[in-house]
Amino acid sequence: MKKILGLIASPRHLGNCDIMVKEVCRNIEEEHELLVANLYDYSILPCKGCYTCLFKQGACVLEDEFPKVFQALIEADAVIVAAPTYFLSANSSLKGFLERCLSCYNHIDQLWKKPALGIGVSGIEGKEGYTALDIESFFTFLLFENKKTVTLSGALPGEIFLDDKNKVLAKELAQSLFAPVQKDESGNCPLCGGTSFRFEKGNNVHCLLCSNRGTMTMAESGPQFHIETQEPGMFFSKEEALTHKEWLMSMKDRFIENKKILKKITIDYLKDGKPLS
Ligand SMILES: Cc1cc2nc3c(=O)[nH]c(=O)nc-3n(C[C@H](O)[C@H](O)[C@H](O)COP(=O)(O)O)c2cc1C
Repeated sequence: MKKILGLIASPRHLGNCDIMVKEVCRNIEEEHELLVANLYDYSILPCKGCYTCLFKQGACVLEDEFPKVFQALIEADAVIVAAPTYFLSANSSLKGFLERCLSCYNHIDQLWKKPALGIGVSGIEGKEGYTALDIESFFTFLLFENKKTVTLSGALPGEIFLDDKNKVLAKELAQSLFAPVQKDESGNCPLCGGTSFRFEKGNNVHCLLCSNRGTMTMAESGPQFHIETQEPGMFFSKEEALTHKEWLMSMKDRFIENKKILKKITIDYLKDGKPLS
């Protein structure tokens, strides 16, 4: 039996994110068990940026309930992430959780290409901002395979199912979870499938999901992106993930080596500003 983890980044129980995940799972044909983790139900402190978890076999210096949720993520056969739009981005609980996941690069084999579905729910259609990009970035950094990420709208809890449109969408998502990824013809980054770009001078573009650069041309079918891999890559192979981990770990030696000069730079600012009491 497959273990599916529903990660809900909303404070509302039985809110739109919660019920959409459950509706998707009602339509999954493979035998499965759905475990639901509502991020607001756990005490998950913000990352301190100390990098200790990279060295001590994933053990974080913070004592809270993060390891419980992270362990569930490791053990799941598939993950469904649902986050409401808050001020044009995914609810901050999702980012807060991700920031605690630096130690995920100690678990590359367990996380690599874990099937994942993303659901962003906005209150107003078209006002979802970069919610989908936030969810897709979550998958990129955790080395998951993004099977499909969608955004839908509905403001009050339950509103997403006032008609059948999102029930149909839930069925499509359910069919995508354990199926090969469908590549779109146009409008996507050819490397990672991302749909969010920064447009730079000339016809240069920057994919905001895999961070690679290239150019864009306009064809009859829509925009075509020609993007090439730049180093360091994010993360098209396990080796790239490992390289990233090693780069992160190498910062310890870089810090020790440059400690004196760095201290000289920062100490100069010690007396500037009055702390808010
Ligand atoms: C603080 C806050 C900010 C929000 N910002 C947006 C927004 O920028 N765009 C939008 O369309 N909806 C916004 N919403 C509405 C929610 O995305 C919407 O109600 C959604 O259905 C909540 O999902 P849930 O029921 O799973 O919690 C916001 C809601 C709150 C409470």
